[in-house]
Amino acid sequence: MTIILYTLCFAAFVGVRVAADNERICFSNKFKFGVATAAYQIEGAWNVSGKGESIWDRYTHNYPERVFDHHNGDTAADSYHLYKRDVEMMVELGVQFYRFSMSWPRILPNGLSNEINEDGIIYYNLLLNELKAHNIIPLVTMYHWDLPQTLQDLGGWTNPIIADYFVDYARVLFESFGDTVDTWLTFNEPYSFCYEGYGGDAAPGANASGFEDYLCGHNVLRAHGMVYRMYQQEFADTQKGHVGISLDFAWQEPATTSEEDQHAAEVVRQFFFGWFAHPIFSQAGDYPAVMRKRIDYISKRQHFPRSRLPTFSPEEVRMIRGSADFLGLNHYTTYLVKRNRNKIAPQPSFMTDMGGTLSQKPDWPKSNSTWLKVVPWGFRKALNWVKAEYNNPITIITENGVSLEAGLQDSRRVNYLDGYLRALHNAIFKDKCNVVGYTYWSLMDNFEWLRGFSERFGLYEVNFCSANKTRTARLSAGFYSKLAKTKCLPVSWGV
Ligand code: NOJ
Repeated sequence: MTIILYTLCFAAFVGVRVAADNERICFSNKFKFGVATAAYQIEGAWNVSGKGESIWDRYTHNYPERVFDHHNGDTAADSYHLYKRDVEMMVELGVQFYRFSMSWPRILPNGLSNEINEDGIIYYNLLLNELKAHNIIPLVTMYHWDLPQTLQDLGGWTNPIIADYFVDYARVLFESFGDTVDTWLTFNEPYSFCYEGYGGDAAPGANASGFEDYLCGHNVLRAHGMVYRMYQQEFADTQKGHVGISLDFAWQEPATTSEEDQHAAEVVRQFFFGWFAHPIFSQAGDYPAVMRKRIDYISKRQHFPRSRLPTFSPEEVRMIRGSADFLGLNHYTTYLVKRNRNKIAPQPSFMTDMGGTLSQKPDWPKSNSTWLKVVPWGFRKALNWVKAEYNNPITIITENGVSLEAGLQDSRRVNYLDGYLRALHNAIFKDKCNVVGYTYWSLMDNFEWLRGFSERFGLYEVNFCSANKTRTARLSAGFYSKLAKTKCLPVSWGV
């Protein structure tokens, strides 16, 4: 069973049913609803059963003060031991698929494929079997930020050799799980882990903005393309699966109607999203022209002998172009963009290269994350932009969700879901955007990276202080379950 398979019949159902405002908002029967998590954020068991150390293990242990509440993912929601309860929750929700990630260092403790950790393979097989027993389709992310520390010691994503190691790791995954898993995501949010991890102070904390983030992005794009081509050559005939990538796209709205802000907003979209989407999904391939132009020019002005943005060879452009069967889109919020008129600073910076200043309207409803304001109309605009820019690719929303404080009565989460799903419905039925599935982030509360356990995204609340990490359904779980089971937005649910 596959998520993508249904897209073959997608043309048959898109536009069949257009809901009027006073009608019930229903998605097609073939449309799929799922929930998402990621290994480091939920599994725990950081050093048991042969697992190697990841960059997040090393970082949170060495710099606990850099995490808001000084916590780490050593135990997290303990899904390594509680995966059966996780699947039980998915059954309660009635979702059709589960997006989760496999931990590279759990499978290859030293990052390389000469040593495979059998316990890691057993763990993911147990989870996959449990999902299968309940008819829940797996959607597997190969890399959700937990790089083996051994590879970071070689420079991590800034070292070109890592693309080969990623291909080796992917081959182990296809060989071990390719008979059960047929929808794969190579990477989750390369923008985030390159910009924040190599350009900023998330793990590994390189803090080299405008430099290491571009090296990281370059090797991630090469690695993605190489895995896609390897799958086509070695596995596609027998496994008949699909390989995509999850990219994050906050909508960038011009702050004013002025031409320069409109232009600045478009440049920012190309820097944030086009950086990864253009090489893979555009007809021309390669980096967006505006990114190439601006970074080449500013690098020169800063006296670099060559551009800080690396260059693909013509073969690499061809190899990466078209290297996805579908787009995974993560969307949470919207920003306003103004042109930044500051002089070019001497030191490299992604933000200077981009040339826009971001803000959010103070009256947009807040969440429990400073960056996440509730702006449902931005979702529809982002989807329409993708449709126009990349010829309406098959899209799965691989993340959408909101953080709130702890507590079970999360009617604000219900409101968020209702607003964003109406926007999605309009994008599909009125605008004909090719979206075939929706994933709520997250199934349950988990370790929110540098924010620790302070920002809760779960449909299920996790009591991190309890010995068995008790999971309890929130109000929103009931709402989402109705939606997943009926494919229609519940009419009134604490909204
Ligand atoms: C992006 C990431 O993929 C995920 O790991 C994170 O927890 C959520 N969005 C919320 O910030």
